[in-house]
Amino acid sequence: MEIKNLRLNYKKSAIDFNALEDNPIQYFMNWFADALAVNKDEANACVLSTISVLNTPSSRVVLLKGVNENGFTFFTNYTSSKAEDIDHNNNVALNFYWPELERQVRINGVAKKISAKESDAYFKSRPRESQMGAWVSDQSKAIKLCYNFLDSLNKLESKFKGKEIERPLHWGGYCVVPASIEFWQGRPSRLHDRLVYDLNEKIWNKKRLAP
Ligand SMILES: Cc1cc2nc3c(=O)[nH]c(=O)nc-3n(C[C@H](O)[C@H](O)[C@H](O)COP(=O)(O)O)c2cc1C
Repeated sequence: MEIKNLRLNYKKSAIDFNALEDNPIQYFMNWFADALAVNKDEANACVLSTISVLNTPSSRVVLLKGVNENGFTFFTNYTSSKAEDIDHNNNVALNFYWPELERQVRINGVAKKISAKESDAYFKSRPRESQMGAWVSDQSKAIKLCYNFLDSLNKLESKFKGKEIERPLHWGGYCVVPASIEFWQGRPSRLHDRLVYDLNEKIWNKKRLAP
């Protein structure tokens, strides 16, 4: 099979433009529930795009760990490349693609650090190994090809022996506060449904876009 011949005629669903939510976060939650029903393992995987100090874009997958009326939360290392980008320019984009549903959601917004208390609460809920990982990985920094994490893990294990592992201050969450959210549903003949919500003076305006 040649790449150029890979194609799918999308026909699983449609956006009912007569039955929309006023709030896109509610609409996202409806779609997220649908995504969870068909992919309970990683429906929360999304692509986060940031812009560097040199104005170059960069994308990577992160896991959504919460959504509420304020926005979309993920966790990461506050000294990573993505965090450096956000320090410089906190306009970011999130992209969810759920192939099982032939759906995409595009979110543009502003990334803001969540409170230390909220990060602590989530960190506490993580498995011990993931907590250790947050301590030993200087995310996005170059390390030797032969680098072995075992030494650092052993040191950490003795430091926290019999104790709870506390959250390293360089690790925590960001909430992406949305300014616009687009819902895309694949449709036959490439005539896809696109629904965009834009925030204007605290009011979400809806519009439909040509595919
Ligand atoms: C399925 C999947 C889930 C991931 N989840 C996260 C995450 O929640 N947080 C995170 O910092 N990195 C996560 N990563 C790793 C990032 O994609 C990326 O490699 C890392 O954050 C470093 O990115 P940066 O150097 O641009 O900061 C995930 C990767 C994959 C493939």
